[in-house]
Amino acid sequence: MKKVLFVIGSLRAKSFNRQLATQAKEIIGDRAEVSELDYSDLPLLNQDIEQPEPSSVARIRKAVSEADALWIFSPEYNFSYPGHLKNLLDWLSRPVIPLDYATPTCINGKRVAISGAGGKAATANCRAKLTELLTFIKADVLPAQTGIAVPAEAWGTDILTLTEEQKADLSVQAQQLLG
Ligand SMILES: Cc1cc2nc3c(=O)[nH]c(=O)nc-3n(C[C@H](O)[C@H](O)[C@H](O)COP(=O)(O)O)c2cc1C
Repeated sequence: MKKVLFVIGSLRAKSFNRQLATQAKEIIGDRAEVSELDYSDLPLLNQDIEQPEPSSVARIRKAVSEADALWIFSPEYNFSYPGHLKNLLDWLSRPVIPLDYATPTCINGKRVAISGAGGKAATANCRAKLTELLTFIKADVLPAQTGIAVPAEAWGTDILTLTEEQKADLSVQAQQLLG
């Protein structure tokens, strides 16, 4: 059974992106084993603490290495991705053996799907910049994406309800991810 690792780009308890991930998990159903990456204990990247590898970094790199694919669900912060998500991807981009740039990193060649829920732009700017960053760090970014412009009423209720079309977009992503 394939393993899919979800990465939620929001730390907020009622996060719309976490709700989007829950919907995606339902769509994947029993076609894969889905888990969520907990990166809440990841330190800010500082080259002074790269070696020895911090235990949280080792745990996260292992989870990424063992996954067949990642699915990122991220909000847009100021026309881009949130800083904590950049910090995670910076850690994943670094060589595990100091100065060894020949051995592939754990994100190298990894299939990654990108989705996001946010304001009117439906996270288009965040997704474009995430695509650029992930491509630069040699991940295999899948072409299909899902962008959700959170409807006005949801900002009051904190509940994100998806349209059938949005669910269909997630289904296409799931197919690419598992194909
Ligand atoms: C620092 C910050 C910057 C933001 N900038 C944007 C933005 O550029 N575009 C946008 O659509 N929403 C922006 N938002 C609003 C987020 O889309 C909104 O808070 C969203 O609910 C966050 O996702 P979450 O519900 O998964 O936490 C910003 C929010 C924060 C906290």
